[in-house]
Amino acid sequence: MALFSKNKTIQKSDILKKPLPKHIAIIMDGNGRWATNRGLPRVAGHRAGVETLKQIIEFCVEINISYLTVYAFSTENWKRPKEEVNTLMNLVVEYIERELDLLDRNGIKINPIGILDELPEKTLEYIKKAAEKTKDNNKLVLNVALNYGGRAEITQAVKKICQKIANGEITPQDINEDLISRFLYTSNMPDPDLLIRPSGEMRLSNFLLWQIAYSELWVTNVLWPDFKPQHLINAIYDFQNRDRRFGGINLS
Ligand code: FPP
Repeated sequence: MALFSKNKTIQKSDILKKPLPKHIAIIMDGNGRWATNRGLPRVAGHRAGVETLKQIIEFCVEINISYLTVYAFSTENWKRPKEEVNTLMNLVVEYIERELDLLDRNGIKINPIGILDELPEKTLEYIKKAAEKTKDNNKLVLNVALNYGGRAEITQAVKKICQKIANGEITPQDINEDLISRFLYTSNMPDPDLLIRPSGEMRLSNFLLWQIAYSELWVTNVLWPDFKPQHLINAIYDFQNRDRRFGGINLS
């Protein structure tokens, strides 16, 4: 846990005094445990998790974060019981049905990332609709990782690059880090500055493996349904007080 919380509560005004992260990524973890702790079915935790997501999106808009990437469903999550998978897929549909107009009015661009064509038809239809309606918005890019895996993302990038070579459009000498980045789902976006993982797990879980090479990690024991804008303020405050050297040394 962060040390500052023993001394004083960090305010929104405190974090606005210093540069904010441009891109925040969040592994929304702990929904199942939150529900089990209350004697509720796991899916109740996912429902509560959507409410948290709404508050966090709102707060990111309020403080002018440019990119927010959330891990909603991984390529490994299909192993969960069918009922839980169905609920998660339906929650995406429900969320879009309920919130799309508001998200659009608030200038949020919804950008689903992952192997989208393997999603159930209805979920795919709704996320495509949401992406299309909000495509020209520029206040906050909300990347929703759905059927997403970092290794799968890199694999599809490698395939596309090989195809370009096979077509004679590029040569192997043209391959560099920038080129690879352009074939990822996050092409033309800055890498996440800050990766937040609630629920105390110290794992990356196949999330944004390429993009988080130099991200600052912030882990809290708080479960995602209990995560509040105050926790985000705390994470950003800690981030602002870290010494990011990107492999170099600090000469000042
Ligand atoms: C991990 O918690 C959480 C998920 C696999 C799902 C996260 C999805 C949402 C919050 C809803 C997505 C909806 C929209 C609209 C984007 P867990 O179930 O693994 O928790 P546990 O580790 O405590 O079991």
